Amino acid sequence: MDKKALRQEAKDILTNMPSSTRQYIQNQLENFLYQTRLWKHASTIGITMSYGLEWDTKPIIEKAWSSQKKVCIPKPNQTDSSMKFYAIHSFQDMEEGYKSIWEPNVLKCEPISKEELNLLIVPGLLFDTNRNRLGYGGGFYDRYLQNFHGKTLALAANEQVYPIVSTDEYDVPINHLITETGLRF
Ligand SMILES: Nc1ncnc2c1ncn2[C@@H]1O[C@H](COP(=O)(O)OP(=O)(O)OP(=O)(O)O)[C@@H](O)[C@H]1O
Ligand SMILES: [Mg+2]
Repeated sequence: MDKKALRQEAKDILTNMPSSTRQYIQNQLENFLYQTRLWKHASTIGITMSYGLEWDTKPIIEKAWSSQKKVCIPKPNQTDSSMKFYAIHSFQDMEEGYKSIWEPNVLKCEPISKEELNLLIVPGLLFDTNRNRLGYGGGFYDRYLQNFHGKTLALAANEQVYPIVSTDEYDVPINHLITETGLRF
């Protein structure tokens, strides 16, 4: 199945998920994340502000702040599909950007280099056990991850894990995946 059809399947899975199931999975993802050594040892994390069907990252950002971690949010550049991360210290450091996604207000935030991010929580619609990730189709993360040396982790429901997802040569696999049953790899 091509990426476009797979993305639609994943969106359908998430759209049709009962809200009680969604709430249960959301809690499990958070709890398992906080138990990982990766999380405990990360002092600077990269994470996006979730929107739409994505798992909610707001409580994760708040947890990171209360655990004295530096929280970095990407500012996408539509011209070249690149991203730059900025450290935010409150939700007031953000503004609504492209496609109504919250992004850092660069006048208020400190830019963070790729080398400073210990842990990058990457968004995605579908995953497989070979660490492949199907994103939302912008190619922003694939570009950013090309020369990224920190650890990447994704959060997903088991329903979002397929035996195999289609990939292209530029797709960068993830290091870790957490689902509602725990750390899958
Ligand atoms: N390293 C790269 N250099 C140039 N173009 C790239 C690179 N990686 C991806 N692209 C381009 O980005 C487009 C989207 O890629 P893809 O469908 O894999 O997105 P995605 O993985 O879903 O998005 P994202 O990485 O933002 O989560 C592709 O058409 C591809 O040409
Ligand atoms: Mg990709």
